[in-house]
Amino acid sequence: MPVADDFEQATVTLPKPEPGAVQVRNQWMSVDPYMRGRMRDVKSYLPPFALGEVMQGGAVGTVMTSNDPRLKEGDTVVSMFGWREAFNAPADAPGLMKVDTTALAPEMYLGVAGLTGLTAYLGVQEVANVKQGDVVFISAAAGAVGSVACQIAKIQGATVIGSAGGAEKVEFVRSLGVDTVIDYKAEPDLTAALQRAAPQGISVYFDNVGGAHLEAALAVAKPFARFALCGMIDGANDSASAVHGLVSIVRKRLRLEGFITSDRFDQIPRFLGEMVPWIGSGKIKSAQTVDQGIEHAVDAFLKLFHGGNVGKMLVKL
Ligand SMILES: NC(=O)c1ccc[n+]([C@@H]2O[C@H](COP(=O)([O-])OP(=O)(O)OC[C@H]3O[C@@H](n4cnc5c(N)ncnc54)[C@H](OP(=O)(O)O)[C@@H]3O)[C@@H](O)[C@H]2O)c1
Repeated sequence: MPVADDFEQATVTLPKPEPGAVQVRNQWMSVDPYMRGRMRDVKSYLPPFALGEVMQGGAVGTVMTSNDPRLKEGDTVVSMFGWREAFNAPADAPGLMKVDTTALAPEMYLGVAGLTGLTAYLGVQEVANVKQGDVVFISAAAGAVGSVACQIAKIQGATVIGSAGGAEKVEFVRSLGVDTVIDYKAEPDLTAALQRAAPQGISVYFDNVGGAHLEAALAVAKPFARFALCGMIDGANDSASAVHGLVSIVRKRLRLEGFITSDRFDQIPRFLGEMVPWIGSGKIKSAQTVDQGIEHAVDAFLKLFHGGNVGKMLVKL
C-alpha cells in the first residue's frame, strides 16, 4: 500500500504560455486505481510513472489564457496532465479536449461521462454483450465503474447482482435499481452468498476486483458464461494474490476477456450519444465522493483501496 511519504507536493511558478499553447486552471482531478499499477516498474499497457515527475491522470479545468485560436479563454477542457492545479500545454496536446458543459457538469467528464462511464459501457455492451435475460454479477458495484455498469446492465434488461462493502454502499447500489446486493464484508462465504442470489447461476460477470469475487463468479457461472475482466483491485497492493478454481473455465466453457478502455477511444462519440440522454432522462444516476484541495490528493487516492468512496472519487481544486 502506498503511503503519504511516497509523494511530494511541489510549488512551481508557471510561465506565460508559448504561442500555440494555453494555460489551464484545473477545477477537478481524478484519482484512479490504475495509477497504482503505474507505480510498479514493470512493462504494461502504459509506462510506469517516472520518479520525481508529476502524476499523470485525468483533470477538468478552465482555459485562463489562450495563444491559439482552437481554444478560447473560458473554455472547459479535459486533460491528462494530472495532479496539478494549473498547467501550460500546446492547444493540440494529446488528451486535451474542449467539452460541452451545457448539459453536463464539468466533473461528470471525469466520471459517468468520462473514462469511467466509457469503461462500464464497453464492458457491459461490447465485451460481455449483456442482453435481456442475462443474470449479471458486478463487483465493486458502489464504485465509479461498477455503479455505472450496474445501471447500463439494467437498461439492457438484465437481472443484476451487485457486490459492495458495507450497509451504506448496499443501500446506494439498491437505489440504482440493482435487483440483489451482496455486502461481501458481512458474508463469511462469498460463493455461498452469490449462489443464494443466483440459484440458476450467473451468465455474465463484470470483474472490478479479482480475488475471492472472481473465484465466486467462476464457481457460480452457468456454462458458456461471459466474463468482462475490467480490473483486479484486490491484488493491486499484493503481488502474491492468487485465484483458485480456474478449471471451471474449461469445464463450463467460459469466455474471459480483459479489456482496456484506452484501446477503444473510437467509441467515445457512440458512448456519449447514448450516455448524455441516459443522464438527462435520469436512467443513469451519478454519484461522487469529493475531497477538497490538492494537498488531499494522496488521501483521496488511497481511499480507493480502503473502500472510502461511493461512486467516482474526485479531488476538487
Ligand atoms: N480496464 C480498464 O480500462 C479500466 C478503466 C477504469 C477502471 N478500471 C478498473 O475498474 C475497477 C474499478 O475502478 P474505479 O475507478 O471504478 O474504482 P472504484 O470502484 O470507484 O473504487 C475502488 C473500489 O474497489 C473496492 N475495493 C477495494 N479493494 C477491494 C478488495 N480488496 N476487495 C473488494 N473490493 C475492493 C472498494 O469498494 P468496496 O467498499 O465495495 O470494497 C473501492 O471503493 C478497478 O479495478 C480499476 O482498475 C479498469
